[in-house]
Amino acid sequence: MRNPYAPGAGQRPPELAGRDREVRQFEVVLERVAAGRPERSLVLSGLRGVGKTVLLNALRSLALGRAWGTGKVEARPDRSIRLPLAQALHAASRELTPRHRDPERVDDFLGVLKAFALETTVKDRKGVRWRPPYDVPATRGRADSGDLELDLTELFTAAGELARDLGVGVAVFVDEMQDIQSAELAALCGACHEISQRGVAFVVVGAGLPHLPTALSASKSYAERLFRYVSVDRLDRDAADRALTVPAQTEDVEFESAALDALHDVTDGYPYFVQAFGKATWDVAPRSPICADDVKVAAPEAEAELAVGFFGSRYERATPAEREYMRAMAELGAERADRPVPTADVAALLGRKPQSLSPARDGLIKKGLVYAAERGSVAFTVPHFGAFLRSQHA
Ligand SMILES: Nc1ncnc2c1ncn2[C@@H]1O[C@H](COP(=O)(O)OP(=O)(O)OP(=O)(O)O)[C@@H](O)[C@H]1O
Ligand SMILES: [Mg+2]
Repeated sequence: MRNPYAPGAGQRPPELAGRDREVRQFEVVLERVAAGRPERSLVLSGLRGVGKTVLLNALRSLALGRAWGTGKVEARPDRSIRLPLAQALHAASRELTPRHRDPERVDDFLGVLKAFALETTVKDRKGVRWRPPYDVPATRGRADSGDLELDLTELFTAAGELARDLGVGVAVFVDEMQDIQSAELAALCGACHEISQRGVAFVVVGAGLPHLPTALSASKSYAERLFRYVSVDRLDRDAADRALTVPAQTEDVEFESAALDALHDVTDGYPYFVQAFGKATWDVAPRSPICADDVKVAAPEAEAELAVGFFGSRYERATPAEREYMRAMAELGAERADRPVPTADVAALLGRKPQSLSPARDGLIKKGLVYAAERGSVAFTVPHFGAFLRSQHA
């Protein structure tokens, strides 16, 4: 019952280890933007399970703690971001409007938001349009041109101005940003570019898979200068140890150093694995301090959990052709420590023409299982996925 560890997508870890630098950087961004100084928006990228969502949420809490207006969007493939963004800005405005002293300014913003939201042709799950739940009429001719870049610029500016009245800003957090269609990604970049030039108190913080920076650059050539790219990676040894020991200490439990060595061997510092192995080890350990043998006994349990919850659930999303493609990648990866594999080698191994494999490759990229790494090569987005597939095969 007292087990403190939290394996699971987006689960807040008991100790956010190894992210101090990113947190401090964002504090500076918040200060500067609120003061009307130029700042770049932040884009976090990294493999599955490294803690992007958790970090994004932590940054959002930071903004909330400074009384900023905040909203969050999770991008989905084949879905426009107009409606989710409208809803995110509505959430942000609800954090700001109760404190605002000028009802006319508030209504002005709500009118723009409604105009933007009603322009959307996207229906929500029940098949009806989302109607912003307030009486202020839509402001005709603002943020409703249908040109997403212009409309976003107008909406973000209006939101930023409302926040500036209160001496704060608005931050919108976009998770799974790589899933935004390229035309919309270009529009979002364009809007960010425009508002940063105007010193609007508005920031976009994105998170996504390792190819997100490339996707952004492909959508707008200046994206490289527009965002500060932060690569979210596995935890170094120190941080990985702290992720395990700090939560244990609050429960008066210690780890022997041999146990931490053993845990590091199996987790490789990947946050998801740290939580999964930490949880299983805690459950089998009869007493404090936790020792290396406890880790050994717990490992099969943790691996079985990961096989179902982390690897299996993703593998099952793939079609037979896509699975064949991934198995070939895994086989090739065995001799190269699962570094990116040239697509030509995958084709050669399967005895197929590279073009005939494009649908499988594209499908895997769309499902977020694989990403296009350096020119002409692919890699798994899920750490240790190659090893998992090889063990299944064996
Ligand atoms: N800094 C950290 N210290 C300790 N544990 C962490 C840290 N960051 C994340 N975790 C843990 O790692 C797991 C995965 O986190 P999260 O879901 O944020 O990853 P992600 O990068 O968003 O993955 P995905 O790409 O699948 O969405 C969670 O169980 C979380 O508690
Ligand atoms: Mg995530």
